[in-house]
Amino acid sequence: MTDTDFARFEKDGWSDPDIAGHYARDFARAAQAAVPDTVRLAKAGPGKAVLDLCCGQGIVTAALAETGAEATGLDFSPAMLALARKAAPGAEFVEGDAMALPFDAGRFDAVTMGFGMLHVPDAGRALAEARRVLKPGGRFVFSTWIGPGEPSAVFWCMSTLAQHGDAGVALPPGPGPFDMAGEDAVRAAFGAAGFEMAGRVRADGVWLADRPDQPIDFFREGTVRGAVLINGQSADTLARLRGIVADLVRAHCGDDAPYRIPVPSVITCGVAV
Ligand SMILES: C[S@@+](CC[C@H](N)C(=O)[O-])C[C@H]1O[C@@H](n2cnc3c(N)ncnc32)[C@H](O)[C@@H]1O
Repeated sequence: MTDTDFARFEKDGWSDPDIAGHYARDFARAAQAAVPDTVRLAKAGPGKAVLDLCCGQGIVTAALAETGAEATGLDFSPAMLALARKAAPGAEFVEGDAMALPFDAGRFDAVTMGFGMLHVPDAGRALAEARRVLKPGGRFVFSTWIGPGEPSAVFWCMSTLAQHGDAGVALPPGPGPFDMAGEDAVRAAFGAAGFEMAGRVRADGVWLADRPDQPIDFFREGTVRGAVLINGQSADTLARLRGIVADLVRAHCGDDAPYRIPVPSVITCGVAV
């Protein structure tokens, strides 16, 4: 595995069965909204070999396999792979690093990556590896959370922590959560890796919540960054953070439960040139 503090931090965190289980149960309800367009843009179907990177609990891999494609999921977390094997019994699964793929060049018709780009320390390297294992004309499709400028619980939580959290709580240096959400950044990264932009669509994910501060719990229990950032806050600071996020949720969703909390994402497709 690529040996940086951030890579080790991510691998250790996602290998925790509690975090993996909570992500799959709660956080990923918003990720589900991106699955249909990911599969459609990948043009998965019978006779196609498709690789799902950072497959996690297997929601994308399962949908790829349902099209009749020969689906392979790859992740570096054994805890996630155990969930994925149950979700997609017809797929193959491989434990490995998205930045150093254990496959020959030109093996796949399509490569997908559901909400993985913000977790790999070097997005350019992951794109170069995806390009290497794709056939010419093959499709790379990835989803990522939409960031600033739109109502989004992922952004509300991250920005509230950054602006109002205890300054001493820090993560190892790594990618920003929204680095690959903007079209210009993606075009540049695609160009450098040998892809041409071939499509970009939005998915409107939602968290249905009983409490307006519940996004904080989805983050703390079901993400690696959230667990460290939120568990490191003092009790007073955490209460203040909960209040800020609850106000943002109420301002957007109204005062009554259940709250339909927006968690939008964008799905981008590149073609290997
Ligand atoms: C947010 S989850 C996404 C899971 C799923 N694809 C979805 O759409 O909900 C991110 C996943 O990426 C995996 N991951 C992060 N960095 C990785 C890397 N360098 N190589 C392989 N898997 C990685 C984690 O173990 C985790 O399962």
